[in-house]
This record gives sequence, C-alpha cells and structure tokens, in this order.
Amino acid sequence: MLIHARGLRKTFGDFEAVRGIDVDVPRGQAFGFLGPNGAGKSSTMRMVAAVSPPTGGTLRILGMDPAEQSSAIKARIGVCPQEDTLDLELSVRDNLYVYGRYFGLPRKEVRARVDELLAFVQLGEKADAMVDDLSGGMKRRLTIARSLINRPEILLLDEPTTGLDPQARHVVWDRLFRLKAQGVTLVLTTHYMDEAEQLCDRLVVMDKGHIVAEGSPLELIRAHATREVAELRFGAGGAQAEHEAVAEQVAGLADRVEVLPDRLLLYSDDGERTLAQVHAAGLRPTTTLVRRATLEDVFLRLTGRTLVD
Ligand SMILES: Nc1ncnc2c1ncn2[C@@H]1O[C@H](COP(=O)(O)OP(=O)(O)OP(=O)(O)O)[C@@H](O)[C@H]1O
Ligand SMILES: [Mg+2]
Repeated sequence: MLIHARGLRKTFGDFEAVRGIDVDVPRGQAFGFLGPNGAGKSSTMRMVAAVSPPTGGTLRILGMDPAEQSSAIKARIGVCPQEDTLDLELSVRDNLYVYGRYFGLPRKEVRARVDELLAFVQLGEKADAMVDDLSGGMKRRLTIARSLINRPEILLLDEPTTGLDPQARHVVWDRLFRLKAQGVTLVLTTHYMDEAEQLCDRLVVMDKGHIVAEGSPLELIRAHATREVAELRFGAGGAQAEHEAVAEQVAGLADRVEVLPDRLLLYSDDGERTLAQVHAAGLRPTTTLVRRATLEDVFLRLTGRTLVD
C-alpha cells in the first residue's frame, strides 16, 4: 500500500477534525475523499503530505513514517493544495523553475522538465506571462504542473477543481486521467460528486471527521441508493410542509422517499414508472425530473444532508 492509515486522528485544541480513519491506497489507484465543508479532508491530506503531524493512529506513506522520514516522503510525492500558493510576482515559467531548484534538481534538468510540464498542462504559450494574469483554471493547471516537477509517485490534490467553470474543470480532469494512465497514484478530495464519479476508482465518504462509507462509485450507489430517482416539486418555491404531506401519500410508490426543502426524491429502480404512479394517484407536481442515482444520493442517505449547501 502506498498509503496506509489506521485509526488516524487530528485534533486542534479540543476540536477533533479527523476522528480515527482507516485508509489503504494501492499503487496506481485514483482514490478520493468525498465530503462537505469541514469534513476533515484537508486535515487528512496535510497529514498524508507529511506537513501536519497526526495526533494519533498509524500512518505510513510509501512504507515510511512521516514523523521520521518526512523529507524522503516529500521527495516522492506531489502536492496540489486547496488554495493556490503560486508566486504572483514570478512568471509562469519561473514558478516552476524556482520550485524545481528548491527540490535540488540541476539547472539543465529543471529547464527541460519545466518545458515538458508547461506543454503537458497546455500553458506553453503562457510561459512568460505573470501568474497574476492567468485565469483560475490556468492557475490550477500551473499548480498541478508544479506538483509534478519531481516526478512524484503519488499526487495529492486537495479540491483540484473547486471554483473553476465547467470547461476549465474538464481540462483539469483530462490531465488527471493522463497522469493516471501514466501510473501516477492520485489521491484527491472533492465535494463534487460528479468529480468523484469521474475520477475515482475508489473513494471514502467523509463527514465530521469520520469515514461513513467506502467503495467504488458504482458500489456505493448500489449499496446506498436505487438505480433511479424521480424528483418532484410542488408549488412555487415549494413549501416543506406541503412536501411532507405529499411524502406520506407517495410512501408506497417508492423504495424510499426523501423530503428536501425544495423537492421530494422518490427512490426506485424505474423512475418513469414511479412518476406514472404519482400521476395515477392524482398528484400534480409542478415540475418533475427522472435521473440516475448519484453519489449525492449516497451522501444524503448516509448523513441526511446534501453535499453542497
Ligand atoms: N489549523 C486549524 N485550527 C483549528 N481548527 C482547524 C484547523 N484546520 C482545520 N480546522 C477545523 O477542522 C475541521 C475540518 O477542517 P478541514 O479543513 O480538514 O475540512 P475540509 O473537509 O477540508 O473542508 P473544506 O471542504 O471546507 O475544505 C473544520 O471544522 C475546521 O474548522
Ligand atoms: Mg479542505
């Protein structure tokens, strides 16, 4: 296992951010931590990056103990932090160059590596631009390029696409797919269920410092949701009281019914059929939608809350 954790904990004063988690990541896997704000994702990532000492439990990265061999670990991992930490006063190229030199790589080798990485993240034409002039998506790609300077075996990405527009997210995902194909082990955090579904071979769902479920995206959906979901909205804006009254009427039509402030979710393996039964029962929702179940539904099932609020 490239990453092995047992009962891993992190406390800040008397606040427990990570409350005893078990994690195993084998080589070549794309592994995700999916969870809402404050779940403990970044706290976990910083321990794995060997920059924040665990409060308790066991942690091994590449077989090494971060408390004793943090430099050896850092030499073999790449870290893409949640907030961009690029040097705004340097050019795109120099951000990578300075970082490569910091890793102790020879000048000539760094120069070649910088060009290669700029091409990889499609920033070759921006090499001489100042970082301040880059878009959010470009900054993210530059941070990813920087994290790759030492040819890491494990790449840690803390919310790689948060704040990016859909197109910029797809460009980042595409680069991450390529890295995965090259054999890099990816460990990422996200609160986007579509990102977790797209990128992760396996993931854990985190909430309030605990792991509440673990598996492949498909396994999690199979275990904790039905195949399809019919979403119903009643009335303008949708009143929760009205939704709760309707929920009782439709309880027998679905495997499970969830009442959200703005809509009702009816879980079944055939959403269209459920919807037809809703209409047959004389109910007239204002809007309806039948969709495939997602990790969002898994999260709702496990925690009673939505991922992005
Ligand atoms: N240095 C710190 N000192 C005190 N509390 C902290 C510290 N770092 C994190 N926390 C707290 O620990 C909890 C978990 O934070 P963490 O940053 O790990 O969550 P996260 O899952 O990464 O959330 P987000 O999605 O917002 O990035 C939060 O309640 C946070 O306020
Ligand atoms: Mg975070």
